Amino acid sequence: MARTRRPLIAGNWKMNGLRADAIVLARDIAGGFRQAGWTDRDLLVCPPATLVVTVSEAVRGSGVLVGGQDCHAEASGAHTGDIAAEMLRDAGASCVIVGHSERRTDHGETDAVVRAKAQAAWRAGLLPIVCIGETLAERESGRTFAVLANQLKGSIPNGATAANLVVAYEPVWAIGTGKTPTTGEVADAHAHIRKELGGVMAEASGVRLLYGGSVKASNASDLLAADDVDGALVGGASLKADEFLAIAKAVQRS
Ligand code: 13P
Repeated sequence: MARTRRPLIAGNWKMNGLRADAIVLARDIAGGFRQAGWTDRDLLVCPPATLVVTVSEAVRGSGVLVGGQDCHAEASGAHTGDIAAEMLRDAGASCVIVGHSERRTDHGETDAVVRAKAQAAWRAGLLPIVCIGETLAERESGRTFAVLANQLKGSIPNGATAANLVVAYEPVWAIGTGKTPTTGEVADAHAHIRKELGGVMAEASGVRLLYGGSVKASNASDLLAADDVDGALVGGASLKADEFLAIAKAVQRS
């Protein structure tokens, strides 16, 4: 089946990177993207907030997109240490990850909070990448599909369209562990997510669904093979330009 959704390969640098190294990494990714001449896929890097300006300058003109890793729901105010979506946009970002499981765990973010953050992204003109995923205990007790459906219902705001939303499926047990679902398990989860999305929005068939969790160059073509997988959200392997570009290359077009 021909794919109509434009693949997106996103790197989540998490809490990694100081200016000098980040500039080299960003330039290498931008150079590789330009050299490959890909016009059929998007590349996105999400550095720590302190580096959004620096990285945006480093990739300028290359077509590589820059995103934040989180934003506050409010546009401004007394929220010490937080970053507004408008600030990310002002710094050069066009996207923002919201509801990553590390935010949900480390900062107690609920689906309602994630939903408010996705709305904040829209308010600021950013594309939100809403993350969902089950824990190992949830998977082992057979609750994966119910958990994903609930997270979608709670985290996706009204007004979502194919153009203003990306969803990332990141099984918590696969993040940073080297463990991955099988190609079939990813395919099943993504098909389920797309079906459930149909219950909360009108254009579910056009929404890009990314897989995340221990994606590497060596497993990317297997993990990203299914029809409903439109790219990857990459953690550790996005910190090496060659590895990240190899993952981008592995995205199949048919
Ligand atoms: P890893 O690729 O390091 O497993 O991280 C995945 C992730 O959490 C991306 O957001």
